[in-house]
Amino acid sequence: MSAAEVREEAPRPKRLVRFRAMTPFDVAGVAAVERSSYQFPWSEGIFRDCLRVGYLCRVAECDGEIVSYGIVAMGAGEAHILNICVSGPVRGRGVGRQMLMLLIERAAQAGTQDVFLEVRPSNLHAIALYQSVGFTEVGRRRGYYQAADGREDALVLKLSLPR
Ligand SMILES: CC(C)(COP(=O)(O)OP(=O)(O)OC[C@H]1O[C@@H](n2cnc3c(N)ncnc32)[C@H](O)[C@@H]1OP(=O)(O)O)[C@@H](O)C(=O)NCCC(=O)NCCS
Repeated sequence: MSAAEVREEAPRPKRLVRFRAMTPFDVAGVAAVERSSYQFPWSEGIFRDCLRVGYLCRVAECDGEIVSYGIVAMGAGEAHILNICVSGPVRGRGVGRQMLMLLIERAAQAGTQDVFLEVRPSNLHAIALYQSVGFTEVGRRRGYYQAADGREDALVLKLSLPR
């Protein structure tokens, strides 16, 4: 067996994903993940505004690249998850769940009682993730989202945190 074959067979080291606060320097990387993930993406300006108004903004990076982000508005005992996203190649490896749990943990530390979010009824992976941590459907906003063929409803999900 050649040295090259031995190297190919060696197990690949696990790539470390690091979670931290988002800064203005991350916005270009965050917006790139956003554009590759959504048909109707947020602009860089929206992410800058989220930082400016003091929303909870977190990113996950791997090898210096942004691979996930989450944004939460908090106030009056409620938290609203406005965006949570994982880059395509990194999906299905637990990063989305870790990001979601981190956002919920921070909201709980800030004294939040209820966490809300909207999700497209067609987004089955996201719905499965939210339900698995205890979110339940509490409403529906008609025509909330832009869609290729008009508008799409949003499901409103809620998670009540223990006091
Ligand atoms: C939704 C999203 C954030 C999930 O992130 P992820 O890193 O892929 O999710 P995880 O690997 O942590 O998986 C968490 C759960 O999601 C669900 N899920 C994720 N990928 C799935 C797949 N391919 N098939 C079925 N369920 C899936 C499962 O319930 C999974 O739980 P499990 O691992 O115990 O089976 C990610 O798919 C994403 O960024 N999608 C595009 C943007 C988006 O739709 N964001 C949500 C807007 S409301």
